[in-house]
Amino acid sequence: MEVIGTIEALRQRLARERAIAFVPTMGNLHAGHLQLVEIARQRASCVVVSIFVNPLQFGANEDLASYPRTLEQDCVNLEAAGADIVFTPSVSEMYPVPQHVLVEPSPIANALCGAARPGHFRGVATVVLKLFNMVQPQVAIFGKKDFQQLFILRDMVQQLNLPIAILAGETVRETDGLAMSSRNSYLKPAERMEAPRLYRALLQVVQAAKGGRRDFDAIEAQTAQYLTQLGWIVDYISVRSATTLLRPAPDEQSLVVLGAARLGKTRLIDNIEFAL
Ligand code: PAF
Repeated sequence: MEVIGTIEALRQRLARERAIAFVPTMGNLHAGHLQLVEIARQRASCVVVSIFVNPLQFGANEDLASYPRTLEQDCVNLEAAGADIVFTPSVSEMYPVPQHVLVEPSPIANALCGAARPGHFRGVATVVLKLFNMVQPQVAIFGKKDFQQLFILRDMVQQLNLPIAILAGETVRETDGLAMSSRNSYLKPAERMEAPRLYRALLQVVQAAKGGRRDFDAIEAQTAQYLTQLGWIVDYISVRSATTLLRPAPDEQSLVVLGAARLGKTRLIDNIEFAL
């Protein structure tokens, strides 16, 4: 496995590759990321993983400075997982001049996580498009835990006619149900015990919907109130169409319930897709 830090060296190394699968990450890798690498390995002879904590997608009061950076361990894990190239550009390599040209994603980027994190998905879409231009993969793989991100990036690829197939990896969970996330390391011991409740609360929403309830507004409010009473600060609990991410039409059958809430300083997100 090669670790490459510059765009020029990356382009030289990739010039001879014909089938590239790409997994963009911000590092601090866990089993969820490694599963994406496994999917990549099945799709192409050359697997590129990028590790770049992208300042453009963090708000002013967010955790850019404290975001966990564990490059050495990440490389050990990626080598074992069978990655061929780890691309680790610096901020000045990615943004040598102020980034004035930005990718404005579809309006759904302003809902859900985008409502609490204005500009977040613009930053994600911009860096992913830049990375796509550098790596020029045929396939790119993202995790379903970031369901809205996956949706927005699929939409970007379609809107901009990028010749890249976007694949999705299932959310990988701890044994108590907590979705794996680099941000879980922020949780204090008592918060870690509480954290799987977000997933359990989403499961209850799914059960209610499968049991015939269609008053999604009421279910969402009840779930948010339940979590709030237990000390969570809830950004949203929302039932959406899994295909448009809009509010479900009355006869919609393919749904997803998404949630984002904070425990102390840690913002957790999760979602469950389900069919009626
Ligand atoms: O999901 C992430 O880790 C990031 O948002 C991504 C896609 C690597 C862009 O910085």
